[in-house]
Amino acid sequence: MKGTTPVAPLMFEHRLIGRVISLMAKEAKRVEAGGPPNSVFVDNVVDFIRVFADRYHHVKEEDILFGEARKKALPAELAQVADELVQDHRRQRAVVQELSDANAELARGNKAIVPTMIEAMKTFVEFYTRHMEREDRQFFPPVMTFFSEVEKQAMLEKELAIDRILMPERFAVMVESMEDSWWD
Ligand SMILES: [Fe+2]
Ligand SMILES: [Fe+2]
Repeated sequence: MKGTTPVAPLMFEHRLIGRVISLMAKEAKRVEAGGPPNSVFVDNVVDFIRVFADRYHHVKEEDILFGEARKKALPAELAQVADELVQDHRRQRAVVQELSDANAELARGNKAIVPTMIEAMKTFVEFYTRHMEREDRQFFPPVMTFFSEVEKQAMLEKELAIDRILMPERFAVMVESMEDSWWD
């Protein structure tokens, strides 16, 4: 996605991740109400988060935007927000691992793991929604004020270079099919 600033594509990616998070919230609610767990759905979610959110979106954030921001004399509070956002990325990996482990355990026939799965999904939904809101509101707008137009354009170009390799459009198709397959 082309945008005029390097945060425009990142915010666009948040919306796609947000759609998967909505599905996770519905799935957690459905299983919590006694519905049978859907391992295929969980596998797809884990794969989407690992590839799209972690290997693609977080890499763009950490290697490009956060990396360039560190070279600026950011006020202490904003530098701390940046550090906490990077810590969130690590925590996110741990929660997704928990969900993936629980799903593998379920595949081995251990039904007692279902509450752990529900909990991991609920934790992810709550925590990652907050993470994206924080980036959208508390980090992206203030950090952009530290960059010149030329610097912003250079960051955007780097993001687009990653896009040309990874072709993120296919993830939107993946999310659409997840939405179509699992719910009304
Ligand atoms: Fe992030
Ligand atoms: Fe983000």
